[in-house]
Amino acid sequence: MEIVLFSKDAGIAQITINRPDKMNALNRAVLAELDRCFQQALGDPEVNGVVLTGAGDRAFVAGADISEFAHYTAAEAKALSTFGQELFRRIEESPKPVVAAVHGFALGGGCELAMACHLRIATRAARFGQPEVSLGVVPGYGGTQRLVQLVGKAKALEMLCTGDPIDAAEAHRLGLANHVVEEQSELLPRAQALLQRMFLRGSQAVAGCIELVNDFFQADRDGYALEANYFGRLFETDQFREGVDAFMEKRKPNFRHKP
Ligand code: COA
Repeated sequence: MEIVLFSKDAGIAQITINRPDKMNALNRAVLAELDRCFQQALGDPEVNGVVLTGAGDRAFVAGADISEFAHYTAAEAKALSTFGQELFRRIEESPKPVVAAVHGFALGGGCELAMACHLRIATRAARFGQPEVSLGVVPGYGGTQRLVQLVGKAKALEMLCTGDPIDAAEAHRLGLANHVVEEQSELLPRAQALLQRMFLRGSQAVAGCIELVNDFFQADRDGYALEANYFGRLFETDQFREGVDAFMEKRKPNFRHKP
């Protein structure tokens, strides 16, 4: 049985973590396969965006696989953290938009993985949390950084230091979940519809927005200068020409013929 599933339809790659009996916990094999699937999606010109989800109906991902790292040394644990952080950073820096479709538990590494995606759609029954303090450890896949970015310092500290999960309504209120749907059956269609909206826009401009928003969180980068550079660069693209021509001609732009 494949541990991570990859399928492709209508410009969208769907990547599904497939360990439902273990609540889709992230072991090294899952991380390696995830990496491979994202590389495949990014390298495929027919793929314009990605939906990431978990198999089964109980969890998106219930965290890093505790049984795997239970006896790690400090050096091994640090290496695992670095490995996961680098993978999640590559997801965050994907120029193709990535939407996490979250149902059930998104805990620990699961919450961190969802946060590395650009947007999150959750079912009403979803639960987000960073329970690592219950194990006597801190999050290791970027959770202490991205949670602050998404929900602010006070709420991030509350979630991180109590380890208590929040429900989907609270996640939505805090800006952690972009949208909430009632049923799991609505989840993938909603994620796909959101991506299809983006596919109507200039793909280079969408990639630019992702890159520039990520730049905001890099202390060593001057986001305004980078924005001006990007803005200027796009003026010499066919996509910009198409967008402006379409506006002038009072028609809808067709960017897809001008990748
Ligand atoms: N790592 C490894 N295995 C995990 C796991 C994880 N993070 N989360 C769940 N599992 C496994 C369980 O060990 C169990 O396996 P088993 O059937 O072989 O015993 C299976 O998934 C089902 O989980 P279970 O705990 O029986 O389900 P539950 O409904 O009682 O509880 C959770 C669900 C998510 C609340 C609970 O599994 C849990 O707390 N998981 C750990 C969450 C966590 O701390 N994540 C951060 C890790 S850094």
